[in-house]
Amino acid sequence: MLEKFSNWISKNEQERKVEDVTIENVPKHVAIIMDGNGRWAKKRGLPRIAGHREGMSVINKIVKQANSLGIEVLTLYAFSTENWKRPKNEVDFLMRLPERYLSVELPKLIEENVKVRLMGSKDSLPAHTIAAVDNAIEKTKQNTGLVLNFALNYGSRDEIVLAVQNIAKEVSAGKLTADEINDTLVDQYLMTNELRDPDLLIRTSGEIRLSNFMLWQLAYTEFWFTDVLWPDFTEQHFLEAINVYQQRTRRYGGI
Ligand code: FPP
Repeated sequence: MLEKFSNWISKNEQERKVEDVTIENVPKHVAIIMDGNGRWAKKRGLPRIAGHREGMSVINKIVKQANSLGIEVLTLYAFSTENWKRPKNEVDFLMRLPERYLSVELPKLIEENVKVRLMGSKDSLPAHTIAAVDNAIEKTKQNTGLVLNFALNYGSRDEIVLAVQNIAKEVSAGKLTADEINDTLVDQYLMTNELRDPDLLIRTSGEIRLSNFMLWQLAYTEFWFTDVLWPDFTEQHFLEAINVYQQRTRRYGGI
């Protein structure tokens, strides 16, 4: 069965010719590094936070589309452990975004069967940010549709260090032996524990790097980079990424 998702695309965009996306091979877990908000704002002579505000509105569209396409998990890199180095006003603004987003969108997320999840360290997140996310997690915990996994105060090296520390503690407590440590076990100690690894990674804004994002989990993921800045990212671009993914042959090291 071939199903087209051309209803996502405006007439104009259809004329730009989009390949069909097939429903059978939709990536189950898509991870996105939403980059380029600052440059988007700068190009318009606006403060950087205007770019983040615009970026937040793109999240809405992509979440809705991901859910309709039958994607199981959407992981969004919203704030890295390195982003604390930014000016205070920008950090404060970014820390307000989850509650701004959820205060409007949570009822729709509940209705659309989306399950909100957090990946990252709660240490050093402001109480108001934690409260907004915890409330969304609680209110959507029974949902069975798209898992919307926000990476907030997330850094992959910190995540791996924490996993190694916790495994070492189990070994010294005699609950595990060194021989029992394998990749399945390490998976369970990561912040993604019950999630499958991403099938597709998207990074916007033309940067070709991982920036400390899901270094373990991306081992066999297909990457798609685009010059488009995150606030300009549309459903059309998302379909393009999925279409490219569907043309790739995943061999996982085999032939
Ligand atoms: C990177 O662009 C973007 C971020 C650090 C923040 C991304 C956050 C959002 C898109 C909104 C999050 C919303 C919710 C609901 C959590 P940049 O600022 O590094 O852009 P630049 O490289 O052009 O400066």
